[in-house]
Amino acid sequence: MKLGVNIDHIAVLREARKINDPSPIDALPICKLSGADQITIHLREDRRHIQDRDASDIIRLSLLPVNLECAIAPEIIDIVCSLNPHRATIVPEKREEVTTEGGLALEENFNALKEAILKLQENDIEVSLFIDPSIKSVELSKDLGVQWVEFHTGKYANIYAMLYGGLANSNHCIKELDLPKSELETMLSDELENIKTVAKLASSIDLKVAAGHGLNYQNVTEIAKIPQIEELNIGQSIIARSVFTGLEQAIKDMIVCVKDNI
Ligand code: PXP
Repeated sequence: MKLGVNIDHIAVLREARKINDPSPIDALPICKLSGADQITIHLREDRRHIQDRDASDIIRLSLLPVNLECAIAPEIIDIVCSLNPHRATIVPEKREEVTTEGGLALEENFNALKEAILKLQENDIEVSLFIDPSIKSVELSKDLGVQWVEFHTGKYANIYAMLYGGLANSNHCIKELDLPKSELETMLSDELENIKTVAKLASSIDLKVAAGHGLNYQNVTEIAKIPQIEELNIGQSIIARSVFTGLEQAIKDMIVCVKDNI
């Protein structure tokens, strides 16, 4: 299992004061030293955290491959092509959202996605689609000709939080916050089964499989055990822990959860 560390939140802290620190650049050697496999960043259209300069410096200076998340807006795709990251992960973006709330609407955006994917691939950039864990999404991703899919694990994480505590994001897919424990247990095992099924399907049609969103030190273990999932991209929980332990320890703790416990 590979671990991509999403370092956007370091830039969130910097942008809160519009000053120079903390700088996501300083995270690069620490991620490498701690055993992470990839740096993940999201160049949002509203530039609320990572700025163009960050993306360019990170891609230039990182000793780990950089996975650049982006929307399909043509001006963003042009920037991504010029930055030439190892991989581009296309994600849905809504300006008012706090974080990416779900997978891409593949059917509605099929032609625009196709155009963006072709452009990225022409520039030798590996492409991944951030999708809901559904059979339809996997099949459409295959039709779109990408190499990777990343399953949005927000629903799983949210049910887990409702059942065992932790922070549930009320913007995620589940609205019923007061369900009985037995119902939540069934929902959690159903969602886990669903992720296993779609991971198997994706792998059987030669799509590489990643997963991410809302994963933390508690809920990640069951996802990390799914053999077809090759990579996890995790941000919030690692950066949150790093405030207290330092980034190096926070990444090492996550590596124990995703690699050593399976
Ligand atoms: N993967 C993708 C595609 C994302 O958009 C995000 C959130 O930015 C993550 C993974 C990481 O999610 P989290 O910060 O909840 O760990």
